[in-house]
Amino acid sequence: MTGTLTIENLHIAARHGDHDHVLVDGISLTIRRGRILALVGSSGCGKSMTCSGAQGVLPPGVRVTGGQVLYDGRPIAPEKLRGHVVAAILQNPRSAFNPVLTMANHAKETLRAVGKLDSGWRSRTLEAFATVGLEDGETVLGLHPFEMSGGMLQRTMIALALLSDAPFLFADEPTTDLDLIVQARILDLLEELARRRNLGVLMITHDMGVVARLADEVAVMENGRIIERATTRDIFDNPQRIATRELVEAHMSLYPEVA
Ligand SMILES: Nc1ncnc2c1ncn2[C@@H]1O[C@H](COP(=O)(O)OP(=O)(O)OP(=O)(O)O)[C@@H](O)[C@H]1O
Ligand SMILES: [Mg+2]
Repeated sequence: MTGTLTIENLHIAARHGDHDHVLVDGISLTIRRGRILALVGSSGCGKSMTCSGAQGVLPPGVRVTGGQVLYDGRPIAPEKLRGHVVAAILQNPRSAFNPVLTMANHAKETLRAVGKLDSGWRSRTLEAFATVGLEDGETVLGLHPFEMSGGMLQRTMIALALLSDAPFLFADEPTTDLDLIVQARILDLLEELARRRNLGVLMITHDMGVVARLADEVAVMENGRIIERATTRDIFDNPQRIATRELVEAHMSLYPEVA
């Protein structure tokens, strides 16, 4: 089981008055290093909750009610996981950055959180910026979020994720807020980094085009549960469940040339 991260039987619930409302109902997933696993499903099915719950960063009023995360087969606590084993990139980079801090501050904060802040922070940050195609890294270090485009912020978020050197990456809709050209570049970048650094990637998306392009395997969620999992090829060629078929058909009707 080396090189694996397993979410095992994860349950998440929200408190509504005097009863619990189940949001995630026993999800199990294994992410392998060097592989990209896509988690798909309709809006509200619990993809983001699964991702946040596994990292122990749920919104107020929502909590994990069961399950655990295993790293190479051994249970690991969320605080040991976050940043150290799993780096995360989120849908809306603008809200992920502190508006009053520069990118240098963010880089130092990221390194401090994983105990890797030392005198080499600047050169390592510039190297990470270069890796994600941020030109003129010295200038970027001095910028605040409002001085940067969405694509630049997303690249910076990926660079910060790389700084931690975590072997796994959780990406929750990482390109949704970007224009199509920037989306394509960011996806290419993520794929290249995943292969080059042998990252295990959990890619949450509702975009089957992203799935077709990047993913090795797919897990389909519905109402807080995994209803189907298969290789990307099988999901497209031979979907077993109605929800999966609908996702594939919706994609094919948008992009018939791919079919
Ligand atoms: N703060 C919250 N408190 C209680 N319930 C919430 C909260 N945030 C989201 N939910 C509920 O949790 C369920 C799962 O939400 P989640 O954000 O995981 O969906 P998702 O699959 O990521 O959807 P999307 O594709 O729209 O991002 C939804 O039914 C949503 O209404
Ligand atoms: Mg979501």
